[in-house]
Amino acid sequence: MNEPRRLFVKSFGCQMNVYDSQRMADTLAPHGYVETSAADDADLVILNTCHIREKAAEKVYSELGRVRRLKQAAAADGRRLTIAVAGCVAQAEGEEILRRAPAVDLVFGPQSYHRLPELLARAARDGKAIDTEFPLDDKFDHLAPPSAQAVRGRGVSAFVTVQEGCDKFCTFCVVPYTRGAEVSRPVVKILAEIERLGDAGVREVTLIGQNVNAYHGVGPNGRTNSLAQLLERAAAIAGIERLRYTTSHPRDMGDDLIAAHRELPKLMPQLHLPVQSGSDRMLAAMNRRHTSADYLDIVDRLRAARPDLALTSDFIVGFPGETEQDFAATLALVEQVGFSGAFSFKYSPRPGTPGAAMTDQVDDAVKSERLHRLQAVIDAGQRAFNRRCLGRTFDVLFEKPGRYDGQLVGRSPYLQPVQVSAPPSLLGDIAAVAITEVASNSLFGTLTQASARQPALAAAGA
Ligand code: 5AD
Ligand code: SF4
Repeated sequence: MNEPRRLFVKSFGCQMNVYDSQRMADTLAPHGYVETSAADDADLVILNTCHIREKAAEKVYSELGRVRRLKQAAAADGRRLTIAVAGCVAQAEGEEILRRAPAVDLVFGPQSYHRLPELLARAARDGKAIDTEFPLDDKFDHLAPPSAQAVRGRGVSAFVTVQEGCDKFCTFCVVPYTRGAEVSRPVVKILAEIERLGDAGVREVTLIGQNVNAYHGVGPNGRTNSLAQLLERAAAIAGIERLRYTTSHPRDMGDDLIAAHRELPKLMPQLHLPVQSGSDRMLAAMNRRHTSADYLDIVDRLRAARPDLALTSDFIVGFPGETEQDFAATLALVEQVGFSGAFSFKYSPRPGTPGAAMTDQVDDAVKSERLHRLQAVIDAGQRAFNRRCLGRTFDVLFEKPGRYDGQLVGRSPYLQPVQVSAPPSLLGDIAAVAITEVASNSLFGTLTQASARQPALAAAGA
């Protein structure tokens, strides 16, 4: 029997890359690969890359410099280290990567992951291999499902891709070019995957897609199901206690999805709904196809359905043509909505997108200054939201050991990390926690009487 080969996968960027990385590991497992957490003893390193902003792509090249040195060290030891670049940089840059980083053996885009074993064989035979085609067959039909064993090691919260690609063509965004057209997975396959996760101890599932609420997969009866229908079916699966979905586009926040926030107790009261800007002029230039009033109306309807809903968002500052007045409209929208947190970015022109060709680009110094001001307002909002959590009692899903002995870290319904003194037996369980202290990024709390008694009662009954 051959020695297992060691695989190290590093994910950059979004949660879909994290999910894809796990699927790549699952696909390679039957071919004798086991995952390692250290790049320096690996036989195969896969960098699963992100191209969404310039900095993300540059990070990949600097990481490749480090991996090249590992390859040289391995060669000095008489070992061969294969370097593969996957993901959206691979898709967008293709051969350019082999030119800029000659130590790379294999370059392949997000639509080729199921062909990984064959591509590795090709790279070993020919020295190099590259695959950035958009094939007609569905990669989801061929990618290995997560094995029960693989799932067990991965904790109590998991991602499941339900939809990939995007047809929206926001003028700043590279996703429609790197991930291709929107494709939804069939309902039955998604539910089977969630059932397997539930059986393996997963309690929380986040349905992911670049445009997840545009989901329109084939249902069991042959009719198209919306995301709301999919969530309702997922909520019926044993063992799954919490559901989330990300990332959504305001245009696809349908009435039935808004109603799902009222009707499905398992759907957590936290929603990431990127708006990008508060200025209608900018929203039009970005091709978002909604106004700031449309966004505020959706927020009102969501909060009517689920009054405790916490909203987070994404913002871009310094999109071409953005004036101080446009930016002020963004600040005003942040104040008006009261987000529990948000990501904000300086506009980064992506090659091949319409935004990059626009002539009225904003000065970098102006972008930095606006980013700074926006982040101050967002941070103040997040602190205010966390402060309001003080003294409340939340259900916390315990995910892993905490920073100190005797502590566990879990997540509140609003996704905040919560540090609690709790026995390891509570890992994977949901228990009520009274919040006693709040910091800017996490909460601290104690088990309430009811939840602290539970393990003892269980032991007495056994
Ligand atoms: N420049 C800056 N931010 C961007 N995003 C997407 N494309 C760009 C870009 N070219 C941000 C958006 C999106 C998030 C995932 O990344 O805010 O919602
Ligand atoms: Fe990019 Fe817009 Fe599609 Fe989101 S909706 S992935 S921002 S093009």
